[in-house]
Amino acid sequence: MGQSYPVGTVVTLATDRSGSVVAARLPRRIAGLSRTGQRRRGNVPGVTIMRLRPEEPADAGAVRRVLAGAFARPDITTPPEVGLVDELRGSAEWLPALAMVAEYGGEVVGYALLTRVRVRSDHDDVAALVLGPVAVAPHRQRIGLGSAVVQAALDAAAEQGERLVVVLGDPAFYRRFGFGRADRLGLTSPWSGLGEPWQARVLPSVGGGPGPPAPGEVIFPPPWSKV
Ligand SMILES: CC(C)(COP(=O)(O)OP(=O)(O)OC[C@H]1O[C@@H](n2cnc3c(N)ncnc32)[C@H](O)[C@@H]1OP(=O)(O)O)[C@@H](O)C(=O)NCCC(=O)NCCS
Repeated sequence: MGQSYPVGTVVTLATDRSGSVVAARLPRRIAGLSRTGQRRRGNVPGVTIMRLRPEEPADAGAVRRVLAGAFARPDITTPPEVGLVDELRGSAEWLPALAMVAEYGGEVVGYALLTRVRVRSDHDDVAALVLGPVAVAPHRQRIGLGSAVVQAALDAAAEQGERLVVVLGDPAFYRRFGFGRADRLGLTSPWSGLGEPWQARVLPSVGGGPGPPAPGEVIFPPPWSKV
């Protein structure tokens, strides 16, 4: 399971003049970044700060840039993930506390979004969450920020009593957060035919709340039909 950094916690990374780490509470791979000695825009010299927090209204532009960079493809101007987030933001499925950004060196460079979906069966209609998009700006990928921001979003969801999260994506990335095949939980969706990429995770129960939703069809709101 990924290492958790509570939302709102500021993790500082102190470096000496050469950029070597002198004190750190970050994952080794984030700490390793400063060993290059490179000073990046937005960093206070000698100290780099990672901050995980819910998105604020002023972050919308930066979030668009992160999504556009991370999902860029040569054949399209704007990746559909940008429009998806903009549409979800204006919808009833948006949960402000569960749209998580990662700031690094004062810049928003990571994003993990949890929004509302429903699980329907013959007898039930229960709330659950979908994770995505998840993105890290290309110049900050592979240093641990993606893992940190996803884990922060999942932790925040569990604290709110949420029990089920589904995701469509590469199992090689998502299994570290406890995701497994959603069909094993009896969950179907328009993407269930894809097999392994269709994944789900039952979150730990906090304070004896309700159990996880029973098997059923996961209903995605209209903005998802565009991706
Ligand atoms: C996927 C993504 C969010 C990961 O963020 P990141 O900050 O680069 O990830 P981390 O540094 O936390 O890496 C954690 C692990 O995931 C692996 N990983 C990173 N990107 C991956 C990907 N696209 N597929 C599979 N594994 C991936 C890393 O190799 C690392 O594995 P390790 O710990 O075994 O070495 C980021 O690379 C990204 O934005 N990619 C483009 C957008 C995208 O594809 N998003 C959806 C993912 S399904």
